[in-house]
Amino acid sequence: MNKVKENTYDIAQLGNAILRQRALEVEDIHSDECQQLINQMMLAVSEAGGVGIAAPQIHQSVRIFIMCSKPNTRYPDAPLMPPTAIINPEILHYSNEKEKAWEGCLSVPSMRGLVPRNRQITVRYSDQQGNVQQKELTGFIARIFQHELDHLNGLTFIDQLESTKDLISEVEWYQQFASLQS
Ligand code: NI
Repeated sequence: MNKVKENTYDIAQLGNAILRQRALEVEDIHSDECQQLINQMMLAVSEAGGVGIAAPQIHQSVRIFIMCSKPNTRYPDAPLMPPTAIINPEILHYSNEKEKAWEGCLSVPSMRGLVPRNRQITVRYSDQQGNVQQKELTGFIARIFQHELDHLNGLTFIDQLESTKDLISEVEWYQQFASLQS
């Protein structure tokens, strides 16, 4: 009998109340609890093949997310960014320019949405060592940051769609768009 590989992490799915709460600020980044949670999130996002994950998605309502962009089957055009913990994030400034691009979400399986996001943002957050970082992000990385920050505020990408017509099945998305990218 074949063994079905099961994911180690239970990812909260759309409809779960934890995805609709405002997550709480992290008080002590150096605590074992916080450091362990960050390590678990890094494993969870790598296992799921995502480019980001927010703590509420693994049932912890605190203001932490991981960004870890690299090209993969879900996002063939993703730039390279090593797994980075983002704690107590803020967006200080948005560019006026918005652009629409396809997003998926580990909590919204089998769907893709064409989501408008600000192309450039100035952000501030604490890193895993507790150092405050301020950066300008553009394009896909800025998009991941906005998507993950939304999770800390009880929103998913579906809430940001301009039209329900911008939501399509992942099967259709692969057929219509993924083949164009190779
Ligand atoms: Ni998501």
